[in-house]
Amino acid sequence: MKQGFVIACVAAGVAGLGGLAEARPRMLKGPYLQDLAPTAVTVMWQLEQARPARVIVEGPGGRREQEIAAARIAEARLEGLLPGSRYRYRVIVDDAAWEGQLATAPPLGKDVPITFAVVGDSRYGVEQHRRLVERIAREAPDFVLGTGDIVDDGSRQDQWQQFFDVEGPLLRDLVYYPAVGNHDRQGRGRTADSYRSYFAVPDSGAETERYYAFSYATSRVLVLDSNIYSFALTDQTAWLERELIAARQDPGVRHIFVVMHHPPFSISLHGGAKDLRGRWAPLFEKYGVSAVLSGHDHVYERAEHNGVRYFVSGGGGAALYPKHPRPDPLDVAAVQRFERAFHFLRVAVTGRRVEVTAIRIDGTTIETTAWNDAAAAPPPPPPPPAAKPAMVPAGAPAGAPLLPAAAGASPAPSSPPSSPPSSPPSSPSFSATVPPDPADGDGPPYLWIGLVAASGLLAAAVAVVRTLRR
Ligand SMILES: [Fe+2]
Repeated sequence: MKQGFVIACVAAGVAGLGGLAEARPRMLKGPYLQDLAPTAVTVMWQLEQARPARVIVEGPGGRREQEIAAARIAEARLEGLLPGSRYRYRVIVDDAAWEGQLATAPPLGKDVPITFAVVGDSRYGVEQHRRLVERIAREAPDFVLGTGDIVDDGSRQDQWQQFFDVEGPLLRDLVYYPAVGNHDRQGRGRTADSYRSYFAVPDSGAETERYYAFSYATSRVLVLDSNIYSFALTDQTAWLERELIAARQDPGVRHIFVVMHHPPFSISLHGGAKDLRGRWAPLFEKYGVSAVLSGHDHVYERAEHNGVRYFVSGGGGAALYPKHPRPDPLDVAAVQRFERAFHFLRVAVTGRRVEVTAIRIDGTTIETTAWNDAAAAPPPPPPPPAAKPAMVPAGAPAGAPLLPAAAGASPAPSSPPSSPPSSPPSSPSFSATVPPDPADGDGPPYLWIGLVAASGLLAAAVAVVRTLRR
């Protein structure tokens, strides 16, 4: 009897502990921010066990709540926010809460100064990564771009946890836009399953979440998957060109930035990726890309080729690389600055001016590079009164561009225009005029001219006949 009582007490205690553990959910990752827009943002988190959650947002427009179904890796899309505004948010699971704050993006095309940070190749370099994150947090950028190789092995969940442990305080309040590096992939199929599960990237009409695009103020950012077997896919190259055409036709876009893990030009250990140089660099040149931001080589490099600037920023934590003993002459010709340093980039965009500063882990500056991009393409002229309505996309406002990509829309037409612009943005080549349709009543007076001429001929014939009869 006594033994039975002890067993019952132990069982009750275990049940109580179980209940206690259930009452205190453990947050593994986040909450952290993703996919920022002027009126929306995504909040993500990962719990130890799947639980329902409630997200509360407070700021301009008042307080709103959203219920989220039980999940381990969960996301809440917060919509209906005001552009360029600050909000506080809370993720509540049972009786536990986690807080953060966010700033929505400015209206698309609005000419306001912005800054963003660029960092990559953290991999196993936890301490250096942590120090860089602390320094980036002090800079308070608008968002962070990752150049890839977030972890050393994409299949290792402990490494993903380590990344989020280090970046947690930063990503709670700032959006991190990732690029997939070769080390972020996993398994024999080189999939990006973990990468895709932890990030909710913008949906911009791409075939997979491994590449995407987003806009912030007057900048359009294209994030590409430069891994072998990925960039060779024609769908990504076709998507890239469609995006570039759309950006160049969008009067709200002044600067185009490209982010991809592998650098087309480098004099470090890996060297420039020749396939990327051949396949994508001509597109960057043709459509006036402002700068290409890469990682992969664990150094800082600045290169220039055919008017496009290329930065290598792979000094985010993993062991630094030396110079290549026998670099390719094309890489040597392009690279203008090289430094073996843990660092990040601060990119400041003000009007037409872009300023890139490479900052070492100790806060000192490697160098600052600045240039002016061409003025944004002016909006196309309004269509003539007799233009065919079928040329204007369904639902587009009056005076909207006649070809794809109004600011803020997902610029993913089903096929590129047959004659893409081949000139820089300052010389728009996409005005559209439609010849008036003679059948619509406003056509040229060919019919009247013909009738008058026929009448004249008839009168002349009658006159001749009468003369002959005389
Ligand atoms: Fe890499």
